[in-house]
Amino acid sequence: MIEAEIDRSRGKAALYRDLAASLASLLEGETDALANLSNASGLLSGALERINWCGFYVLREDVLVLGPFQGKPACVRIPLGQGVCGTAAARRETLIVPDVQAFPGHIACDAASRSEIVVPIVSGGTLRGVLDVDAPVTGRFDDEDRAGLEEFVRVLAPRVAWERL
Ligand code: SME
Repeated sequence: MIEAEIDRSRGKAALYRDLAASLASLLEGETDALANLSNASGLLSGALERINWCGFYVLREDVLVLGPFQGKPACVRIPLGQGVCGTAAARRETLIVPDVQAFPGHIACDAASRSEIVVPIVSGGTLRGVLDVDAPVTGRFDDEDRAGLEEFVRVLAPRVAWERL
């Protein structure tokens, strides 16, 4: 078992710095897409409090398809432009949704989800998919989460052999 050293007591920015460093060392010397996305979702789910789902959707043609995740079983296919995931992917821009019930077109996978953040994954100029994190409380995600999760994705994206996924 690989144990990540995550200390939540120093605040969010420090937590995300630790997470990015843990991710880099966890993935060192490995580029297998399934393995690295799986370990990245495991690392996140153990580190973030008050979340009920985290994981990846990968782009296959024009559809996001469910990838490695931690949480309850989720919907498998999300067309670009639909739901929070498809909207963030189409815009290539992180979306924070403080109250999913107020987001038109939100796709409910886990009924417990109340807020959500979706970070697009772009590598080599190509959209590869999204990182999606759901929380069972409204307003869970803020700009520190955005910056931290965007950094997490920046560390992850070049360490995944997307073309062999
Ligand atoms: N809520 C997402 C769907 C994915 S699940 O939350 C895991 C959306 O609206 O795209």
